[in-house]
Amino acid sequence: MPAPTEGARIRRAGSTRRQFLLGGAVAGVGAVAAVGADLVLNRPDTAPAPAAPMNGEGTVPFHGVHQAGIDTAAQAHGVFAAFDLHADIDREGLIRLLRILTDDAARLTQGRPALADSEPELALSPANLTVTFGFGPGLVARAGGAAPAWLAPLPPFRVDRLRPEFSDGDLLLQIAGDDPLTVAHATRMLLKDARGFTDLRWTQQGFRRAYGTERPGTTMRNLFGQVDGTTNPEPGTADFDRVVWAEDGWLAGGTGMVVRRIRMDLDKWDRLDRSGRDASVGRTLANGAPLTGTEEFDEPDFEATTTIGFPVIPQFAHIRRARGDGAERIFRRAYNYDERPVGGEVSESGLIFVSFQADIDRQFTPMQKRLDELDLLNEWTVPIGSAVFAIPPGCREGGFVGETLFA
Ligand code: HEM
Repeated sequence: MPAPTEGARIRRAGSTRRQFLLGGAVAGVGAVAAVGADLVLNRPDTAPAPAAPMNGEGTVPFHGVHQAGIDTAAQAHGVFAAFDLHADIDREGLIRLLRILTDDAARLTQGRPALADSEPELALSPANLTVTFGFGPGLVARAGGAAPAWLAPLPPFRVDRLRPEFSDGDLLLQIAGDDPLTVAHATRMLLKDARGFTDLRWTQQGFRRAYGTERPGTTMRNLFGQVDGTTNPEPGTADFDRVVWAEDGWLAGGTGMVVRRIRMDLDKWDRLDRSGRDASVGRTLANGAPLTGTEEFDEPDFEATTTIGFPVIPQFAHIRRARGDGAERIFRRAYNYDERPVGGEVSESGLIFVSFQADIDRQFTPMQKRLDELDLLNEWTVPIGSAVFAIPPGCREGGFVGETLFA
């Protein structure tokens, strides 16, 4: 028999813990009934087949060389919370803050309540929760550390209409999981513990398909209906490692993160016909195949021309412009957002565009410059928030996230 996987072992430990912790809640008449049921179920001849693992029981290891939440298969729900440090928080205060938040994250992601958790029952279904820490320029300066050259607001782009309430910040927490209640609880616990050290600057809430709606590994769709994320380096490959992980100094094993809130004008998009929609990206809405192919993962042929000599994938197509000569690569891990419409529009929607790359100046910025100069998608998209963070490496058990910055 094959050895149980780490996930299976954790899941089993999870259910034992859950039965133990919640046992006390079954009281009075219910307790008698529960004991009776247990006795029946434990008789060998009536023992039920083991139940399939539940989504809520899934855990992603917290400790490791890299932080979780980057090469982790993107969960269904994501909250991004950015904080400004209080003026009086010094290096020692920062270490205290990071130790507390690390302890919270290490517990909550493994299905254990945070210390002094006000709603401990909500912590018992981790649902693949991850908490990823990012440091803005202000935090690195406060720690007295050396900031990578790219850790600064991006240069201005013509398409930008940035708002301070969605931009910048000293500390970022990306809190993602496959259950919205788990994510909300973890967010609240982390915010409570950050409160004495920081002011909350902004939060953004995003979603993909609910857990179990599609087969694992299906590329996500954004609110334009596009298959979004096809051409991404594959986690676990040497290619991904090269694109994403930084190699130098305190950031070795970490990465750079760009978070852009990009409004998508769905009401205007409604007025575009299907072939125009396909042409704007250079891929079909039907299955995400390039206009020169039939399947999602077919390689686009940028040289192909129509019978009258026009490129099949237009010069203004998003994929042609984003790819350029292929020298710059990034790893995208976006979430959709959908808020209350304002000003008579039907929708207030968009993408929380998230990308990870080892060097933002070298990989992200040239690509964004190209898209700023020409990209038909700019007709329907407007960046309204922008922030850049250094993502420190992961930490070992007993350590804290970001400790290499203080070494
Ligand atoms: C709301 C804004 C955006 C939308 C709706 C969008 C949508 C898409 C779609 C549908 C694809 C094709 C499928 C795929 O490979 O994922 C794509 C590809 C891509 N996008 Fe975007 N995107 C947006 C913003 C951006 C931004 C800001 C960047 C980076 C600066 C970017 C970089 C890329 C890259 C690198 C590719 C792959 C190109 C290739 O085939 O090599 N996108 N995007």
